[in-house]
Amino acid sequence: MSKPKILVTRLLYPAARAVLEKTGEVDWWTETEAIPRAELLKRVADKDALVCVLTDKVDAELLTAAPKLKVAATVSVGYDNIDVAACTAKKVIATNTPGVLDDTTADFAWTLMLAIARRLVEGDAFVRSGKWPGFAIDQMLGGDVYGKTLGIIGFGRIGQCVARRALGFRMRVIYSGTTRAPVDVEKELNAEFVEQDRLFAEADFVSLHVPLTPETRHLICKESLEKMKCTAFLVNTSRGPVVDEEALADALENKKIAGAALDVYEHEPKVHPKLMARRDVILAPHIGSATVETRTRMMVVAANNVAAFFEGRTPPNALNKDALGLK
Ligand code: NAP
Ligand code: GLV
Repeated sequence: MSKPKILVTRLLYPAARAVLEKTGEVDWWTETEAIPRAELLKRVADKDALVCVLTDKVDAELLTAAPKLKVAATVSVGYDNIDVAACTAKKVIATNTPGVLDDTTADFAWTLMLAIARRLVEGDAFVRSGKWPGFAIDQMLGGDVYGKTLGIIGFGRIGQCVARRALGFRMRVIYSGTTRAPVDVEKELNAEFVEQDRLFAEADFVSLHVPLTPETRHLICKESLEKMKCTAFLVNTSRGPVVDEEALADALENKKIAGAALDVYEHEPKVHPKLMARRDVILAPHIGSATVETRTRMMVVAANNVAAFFEGRTPPNALNKDALGLK
């Protein structure tokens, strides 16, 4: 029997490469820039599996161009790049990489939170400018993080890891979401479920951990920003379109909130020009899960999902398992 044909849109690390090369005949995209759409559509035409990243869209157009496709595995936990319903309609199993990047992404949300509150990026630029005159009693004062109220929107795997870190900072943690966490989780993390409006009104830091869905698009908008404290900071490590960037820039300009630290953007890699120009904003290049250890784990999880399928098993992270009636 011929080996399955697999297209991979990035040269993965050796541990994941080994899994895929054992599984099938692999076509690697090895260029440093992302695979152009036309090239992706061309190369996927005769493939049985696709391993992609979050900038590669798996939609009706791609599925039509890939009539033999059986598995589409994204090397990310967020899967808004995949039209799962369209995959189901074509009997293609879609998979993601949940659970192996939670602590790393939570660490980064905290990196952003501390950096914006304590003006680290501004301070670094000040020292490098050569204009720092030396210590002064009232220089570059920020706000405390410890003891404040942290509001977490989206209390799933990553949101809960963010809350766990707040215990050491003696913070009050409030969260909102579509469902309430089990009582033992609330107790362990000392977290209180509140209505979203109350979270906006009471949080000193609002940290976003929701997936991008039609319901969460522009969850942070003019109205929600107006509900926040004028001393509050927004931290976004979820997905860019969860925040209306124009409304955020206006809220900062009008001092409705104190600052924002962002890892993700509405139109990556473009950043809203008004945000680019602001010193009360930290801009990170979508690196929430970007550690060597975690990216290696994510690649291996994606490769194992593909391997499982060709070994006759349901991929462990099949997103449309129920819709496809898989065991
Ligand atoms: P998760 O475990 O599925 O958690 C998401 C949480 O958001 C769940 O508790 C979910 O509740 C809740 N939620 C869904 N819709 C909501 C809504 N409309 N309002 C409020 N809460 C809502 O996912 P995760 O693994 O923590 O990842 C979260 C997201 O982070 C990913 O989807 C991805 O986009 C992003 N991410 C970014 C980076 C980065 O590099 N910056 C890294 C990793 C992840 P239910 O379970 O009740 O639906
Ligand atoms: C990164 O953004 C992910 O969703 O894994």
